[in-house]
Amino acid sequence: MHSVYVFDAYGTLFDTGAAVARHSGGLGETGKLLAEIWRRKQLEYSWVRSLMGDANRNFWDLTEDALDYAFQKVPEADASLRETLLEAYRDLDTFEEVPGTLRELKDKGARLVILSNGSREMLARAVRSAGIETLFDRIFSAEDCGQYKTAPAVYDMVTTAFRIYPDAVSFQSSNRWDIAGAATFGFHTVWINRSGEPDEYPDRSPNAILPDLRGLPKLV
Ligand code: LAC
Repeated sequence: MHSVYVFDAYGTLFDTGAAVARHSGGLGETGKLLAEIWRRKQLEYSWVRSLMGDANRNFWDLTEDALDYAFQKVPEADASLRETLLEAYRDLDTFEEVPGTLRELKDKGARLVILSNGSREMLARAVRSAGIETLFDRIFSAEDCGQYKTAPAVYDMVTTAFRIYPDAVSFQSSNRWDIAGAATFGFHTVWINRSGEPDEYPDRSPNAILPDLRGLPKLV
C-alpha cells in the first residue's frame, strides 16, 4: 500500500464531459466540437501560463477564457449557453464508480487526496456538490503554488505536506500528459484511460493502466 493515493479531478473523478453534453447535447455535433475546443484551450492556457511563469489567472479564469474562445471558434453554437455551461462545470457529478471505490480504498486504510489545477473554490464546490468531500484527507489546488501541472512544484505540494518521498505516492489521472508529469516527478502512476485513448509519452510510462477506478483497490 502506498502512503497516499492522489487523484486528478476533472476527467478522473468528475465527469466534465457528461455535464457539458447535458447542456450542449441539443447542439449535436456543434456541441461536441465546442466541448472539445473548450477543454483543449483550457489545458493549453494552463501549460502556456506555467511556461510564462504567470499565475495571474486561476483555472476558473482559464475555463471561462477557453469557453469564450470556443464560442468564437464555433459561431454556430448558441453563445447564450455560456452561463449554463459554466454552471454545469461548477456542480459536477462523479463518474459512477468513484464514491464506492474511494470508500473501498478508505476502508483499506488508504489516505486519499485530490491534486488538481482547479482553483480552491472550484474544487471545494465540486466535492461538495458531488457529496464526496468527507472522503479526502487533503485537497491541493495548483492555485496554491502559482503554477499548473506538469510543473514539478505542483506535485511537490503533496510530498512536502505529507513529508514523504515521491515513490510513496500512487497518482491516478485520466490525463496521459498528467501521468507523464507525475511519473517524471517520481510518483507511482495509474493512468485511468476512460476514453480508450492511444498511449503516448513512451519514455514516461504509467505503472498501471485501468479503464476506470474499479480495479484500483485490487492494486492496493
Ligand atoms: C485537473 C485537470 C487537469 O483536475 O484535469 O488538474
